[in-house]
Amino acid sequence: MKKCARRAVIAGNWKMNMTPSTTVKAVEDTVKLTAGADCDVVLCVPFVDIVPAVKAAEGSHVKIGAQNVHYEAKGAFTGEISADMLKEVGAEYVIIGHSERRQYFGETDTTVNLRTKAALDAGLKVILCVGELLEERKSGVTAEIISMQTKLDLAYVPADELKNVIIAYEPVWAIGTGLTATAEQADEACGIIRGVIETLYSKEAAEAITIQYGGSMNDGNAAELLEKVNVDGGLIGGASLVPEKFAKIVEAASK
Ligand code: 13P
Repeated sequence: MKKCARRAVIAGNWKMNMTPSTTVKAVEDTVKLTAGADCDVVLCVPFVDIVPAVKAAEGSHVKIGAQNVHYEAKGAFTGEISADMLKEVGAEYVIIGHSERRQYFGETDTTVNLRTKAALDAGLKVILCVGELLEERKSGVTAEIISMQTKLDLAYVPADELKNVIIAYEPVWAIGTGLTATAEQADEACGIIRGVIETLYSKEAAEAITIQYGGSMNDGNAAELLEKVNVDGGLIGGASLVPEKFAKIVEAASK
């Protein structure tokens, strides 16, 4: 399967932005402005915004996701959200292992793996984030780091679940910094991840899986990044908060 056989996925990660009231207009605008999309369009929103976002996107091509999920089904886990809870309110996707969760909230590859399995078991689609720190890139261990994360995070995920997994390559140094990986760096890293999938699963699985780039992707640089053979879409932070900008990225992915 060539890149052209993989459908691009452009996902917004709103992070801790928007309230239920501002969500409605932002989703409605995104739906309208991306009406011509020839790629999958997803918005991953804060937990309390999921219900209004699902309602505002109802019947449209825009799908709604969450930004984290706990791995237990229920119980004494104050402040956490289960996969079934997300499903019931209409979330279809969930971001897992974002570097901000790893950096600020003690997320490890072990918990990322547990969350990934729980989300897949519940029927959610997972956007699994991996990526190296600046020191790691400078030390020349990018390939080792992203390979290790991919292997550990997907441990015991069976081949038939892989169709519900998107991997987002997000170099930590490029997130929210305005620094973007060059298209060549993004392509190389996404290619390394694809190679790991081939080793873990099969050539077919590697050719079929969607691998996004994330890290200061915007309406100005998206086309160049998305043109690369291994880059199948984007996970967009800041620019996803501005529907006009996000729509331009969707347009670039639809060409
Ligand atoms: P920015 O696009 O704001 O750099 O954020 C990227 C990101 O973290 C998406 O998950």
